[in-house]
Amino acid sequence: MIKKGIILAGGKGTRMSPLTKAVNKQLLPIYDKPLIFYPLSILMLANIRDILIIVNKGQLSQYKKILPDGKNLGIKITYKEQIYPRGLPEAFIIGEKFINKDNVALILGDNFFYGQSLTDQLQKNTKLKKGARIVLHKVNKPELYGVAKVNYKNKVTLIKEKPRKYISDLAITGLYFFDNSVVKFAKELKPSKRGELEIVDLINKYKKRNKLSADLIGRGGAWLDTGSIEDFYKTSAFVSAIENRQGFKIACLEEIAFKNKWINKNQLKNAVNFYGNCDYSNYLKKIYR
Ligand code: G1P
Repeated sequence: MIKKGIILAGGKGTRMSPLTKAVNKQLLPIYDKPLIFYPLSILMLANIRDILIIVNKGQLSQYKKILPDGKNLGIKITYKEQIYPRGLPEAFIIGEKFINKDNVALILGDNFFYGQSLTDQLQKNTKLKKGARIVLHKVNKPELYGVAKVNYKNKVTLIKEKPRKYISDLAITGLYFFDNSVVKFAKELKPSKRGELEIVDLINKYKKRNKLSADLIGRGGAWLDTGSIEDFYKTSAFVSAIENRQGFKIACLEEIAFKNKWINKNQLKNAVNFYGNCDYSNYLKKIYR
């Protein structure tokens, strides 16, 4: 059972500069909420309540203004700073104490997931006891991502980071589930040619030991990118279209917490006070009305 999760929200956000010069990328808006709400909602939907958020050095105070310690959401949030981004697997080295003897999920702070059966799928993946599990989704431009080739039994036969030559159109999304060996494996990694520890090398350690499995988000689910400014706007437009059509909000953290009975009506009211007079608060009021 996986009960701990890490959100890696470090990185310099250079592709989004000057927007990211003063503000961490994950605090920029995807339509009506900061981007960080979306990956956090995914961990919460997976029933993960013990969460480590890794942020850039110097940006901690920004985060604490919006997500102090998780008590308001019935979860526990701890923070660690990343001094210099050295690749995704560093999350497990920075998070060693937090992980302790447990299994852990990792979600990248800029990944957006949406879909009908997503919660069920997430909760199935948190049942992982041994090995590692990656989550795949078909994309048009696999060369932009880590890519996995799978055989007819859904077994991963090959994984590569941003392959120039086509091997498969299944991208490895930024959501991963690992057993406790991940800390040891991450420490064994050597930097790649671009000077970073690579998540694909980490996953390959599990693959070599025949301990890698894959889950697939089908065409009814959405995995969107928020890597560039253009992607930010496209994802915002997606959220706006769904929310305004249905009247439901995507990634309303208090709603998830309330429906899971992690917080009560009073805490919802406190949230309304905290956010003030805005559309998000009006939505919260409708939940407890
Ligand atoms: C990273 C990973 C890549 C993965 C992607 C998902 O890429 O290295 O394997 O597919 O996240 O968002 P990056 O966004 O750092 O280029």
